[in-house]
Amino acid sequence: MSLGKETGMRYFGVKAGLLAFLPLAAGAQDFGVDMPAEPAPGIVFPTAEEEINSWIYAQPQNSAAIHGHAWGIWAGLTNPVDGEGAFARVTYQTWLTKANVIAVFTGKEPQSHFQLGESSQMFRHGLVDGFLADAASEKKDGTEPKANAAGIIVNADVLENVAYSPPSASYLLETGTGKPEVLDRLLADGDKVQFPDNAVNVKPVYKLITEERLTDWTDADGRTRKLYAFTAWPGVPDLTNWTPDMKEGGYPETLWQQCVYVDMDLKGPTTSTGVDVNCKSPGAGNIYSIDDFIAVDLKAQNAAFVNKTTGETEEIGGDGPAIALLVAMHVTSRETTQWTWQTFWWEADAAHPNTPSSAAIAAARPSPLTSQAAHYAMAPAYSMLVPAQPLVGGKNVGELVTAFNPYLEAGFGTPIISIMETVQTPDGKGAWTTTTTDMGIQTNCMTCHGLAAWGGRGSNYAANFYVPRDYWVFDTALDVDFAWSVEAIGNAIKAMGAKDD
Ligand code: HEC
Repeated sequence: MSLGKETGMRYFGVKAGLLAFLPLAAGAQDFGVDMPAEPAPGIVFPTAEEEINSWIYAQPQNSAAIHGHAWGIWAGLTNPVDGEGAFARVTYQTWLTKANVIAVFTGKEPQSHFQLGESSQMFRHGLVDGFLADAASEKKDGTEPKANAAGIIVNADVLENVAYSPPSASYLLETGTGKPEVLDRLLADGDKVQFPDNAVNVKPVYKLITEERLTDWTDADGRTRKLYAFTAWPGVPDLTNWTPDMKEGGYPETLWQQCVYVDMDLKGPTTSTGVDVNCKSPGAGNIYSIDDFIAVDLKAQNAAFVNKTTGETEEIGGDGPAIALLVAMHVTSRETTQWTWQTFWWEADAAHPNTPSSAAIAAARPSPLTSQAAHYAMAPAYSMLVPAQPLVGGKNVGELVTAFNPYLEAGFGTPIISIMETVQTPDGKGAWTTTTTDMGIQTNCMTCHGLAAWGGRGSNYAANFYVPRDYWVFDTALDVDFAWSVEAIGNAIKAMGAKDD
């Protein structure tokens, strides 16, 4: 038996004091299925901090061990706990979301236009309903999905969400971490947020397939196919000739100019590996099936949703499909003080992925991955710079470690980045040069998350430099242990309170 297929334990927490607030009917909070203890052969979760640090601080850094560990976490997250194939329910899909945590803390569902059922993670966190509400208002502006010159509708929108592993979510719920008054008290006491070592937090990103986003495409031999088109990441662009105006806009999906297609009628994984460079020539090599993705069939999960304002019931997606395709996911684990950081996105040619991933990273994909999970590329950031600097007292000298997700940070332009520091980097010719970074495609997860704070002088995002744990931000603000969503939960609850007054 392969260890990767071993199903983790379902995790229930029983906390008498909490039960009164829980929106779920049962007497205990169901935190979902935890990470398997050995998600891939030889990869242990959680791994001891000393061991991970020995890879990070090795010179040269032990990237083979880092890649193996990051892929092991992916194998655990995507391990089917129910069903198989594209629509299997996988580990991370059983976890509580940010909206669940807010609902428990406030006793209220987050403000949203639509109220959906609660049978799956997709609905419980208010993700799909919010997205549909946005899509509805877009239509009023006349900005509904439009076909390109070749008659193809290319979808460049995504939905995103945050979810917490069982140990992570139970830490939040049991300590109240995220409630504004709890964060304020920690700040006043000079304390800080601290997740348990086995916590894992994720941020999955989906494309939503509905009828209005499909193109009927007749190919050369007269066959008509129902295609869903979306933008495929072309790799990090060369910034040499970018003007400040261009940098301000970042590198969002609308600039990528290449597509892949999903044929709604194809069954089983395909052998395609191509992309269509101008989004006008669907063909055998760039057409995929849903079985090439991790997906959620929203219709199977929830037949109808109710418009809170009018009380009207609507079938999600009308008579057509309503399928969420996983296109990207951010993943972080608290195994080390500065967390481990890895991000994943769907790639047409997963064995030869674009930057910031690489063929070497892809070659480390472990055997227990499902064929769907193996279709994603990975980029890790286990340190801000190489050589890795200590927790405090280090310096801004070394190679930049770049790791971002095309479907998340690539669209961030210079206005998003508020703190910059100059880094001395090797120039590749044996000498040194200095550099500063201020775009999403130059970011490092650990740098931006290392600034995650509550109160004080507000939220500050950054791209890539060394952030010591005693950085000036924490002179006045609470250190929320790299978890920006804790600050977001606090702000969301504050905003809900302000609305009630
Ligand atoms: C420029 C800043 C920035 C960068 C760079 C960044 N993030 Fe985040 N991240 C955020 C913010 C802000 C949130 C909170 C979003 C929310 O609450 O919905 C977040 C949320 C998350 C979460 C949800 C749990 C948490 O920490 O609150 C994960 C997991 C995550 N990011 C991983 C990553 C990974 C992996 C990378 C790098 C590949 C990355 N992030 C890069 C700003 C950033």
